[in-house]
Amino acid sequence: MFEVLPALPADPILGLSAAFKEDTNPKKIDLGVGVYKDENGNTPILESVIKAQRLLLDSETTKTYIAPQGVAGFLTGMKALLFGASHPAVTEDRITAVQTPGGTGALRLLAELIARGNPDATVWVSDPTWANHIPIFETAGLRIEKYPYFDKASRGIRFDAMMETLNSVKKNDIVLLHGCCHNPTGQDLNQTQWQAVLEAAQKTGFIPFIDVAYQGFGDGLDEDAYGIRLLSENLPEMILSASCSKNFGLYRERTGMACVVTNSNATRQSLQTQIQSVARANYSMPPSWGAAIVDIILNDEQLKALWQSEVTDMRTRMKSLRAMLVQKLKDKGASMDFDFVNSQKGMFSFLCISPEQVKKMRADSAVYFVDSSRVNIAGISQSNVDDLAEALVKIL
Ligand code: LMR
Repeated sequence: MFEVLPALPADPILGLSAAFKEDTNPKKIDLGVGVYKDENGNTPILESVIKAQRLLLDSETTKTYIAPQGVAGFLTGMKALLFGASHPAVTEDRITAVQTPGGTGALRLLAELIARGNPDATVWVSDPTWANHIPIFETAGLRIEKYPYFDKASRGIRFDAMMETLNSVKKNDIVLLHGCCHNPTGQDLNQTQWQAVLEAAQKTGFIPFIDVAYQGFGDGLDEDAYGIRLLSENLPEMILSASCSKNFGLYRERTGMACVVTNSNATRQSLQTQIQSVARANYSMPPSWGAAIVDIILNDEQLKALWQSEVTDMRTRMKSLRAMLVQKLKDKGASMDFDFVNSQKGMFSFLCISPEQVKKMRADSAVYFVDSSRVNIAGISQSNVDDLAEALVKIL
């Protein structure tokens, strides 16, 4: 029977890694999949993670299953990191939370939970959004609509158009927002804009769903949680998916968390049984290793301080790579002004060139990035920035 299923095109992001590996050009540059890299193009394990792993190796005594909701210290540590330890929803125990296999696992679980609660819900996603958001929600049977977000021509947010759409969303529809470091554009809401989103949710009754995969890569760990905290303090319900892939560098350990902020501890308790039953029907219970590492780091003052300084280093380095690229492009006489790259945040930037130009750069200069013109800033280095800037100037 399976012969009726056709072969599918390569994944728009993961497919790039395979193509890059096969390319024999010694000067090839990988700005594709969102993975942090050092100057040599490596993705090293964070020092704080290495130390936590050693402690874990010495202390782990069993491989029996962990609790269905996940590692307890991971969940409390992550809630404090995202919402703040003194957040009323935290202190009043109103947050349903489960550890998930990565941020993607959290998104999928929450999508199914939404389908249980309101099968008619429409999920509103930013235009554009992460390439995997739409398949995740559609596979869970939910309808998708887009709200205007990024304007390639002005290299900014189409905020008036976005708000016009959000102000007309139906009660109990879901609005997916990127907590920080918008993927793919790097263009974030400012505090005034978050306030306007809050007011639209209060007016219409839509439920915000914040996906946060890059906390600490924008302006700082607390600064990047501004929207999460504002909305969850002022609305009766909010949904959140979080990933530890990037800021803890735990990519392959698949470590994430799914949360729903509810309006009472009683709702939290009954929703906890629902979310765990969704998980049980999908993968039973989460893996342990990554969350056990995060638990150790977040609950040990010294390791936490070390991890925070490593997040600061990654953020600062990515900012300097942005500045370096923009300067090189100026020096090489680029016909387009790329200053906007400096004001975008996190791991990604939209270069605002056409898909044809992106494909030509790949074919002519072996520079790999997503057709939308999204580049992984962390893939830039002192040793490839000249080649990159030259390839870009040539394509313009
Ligand atoms: C990305 O956007 O490149 C990362 O989140 C990796 C992925 O799974 O797409």
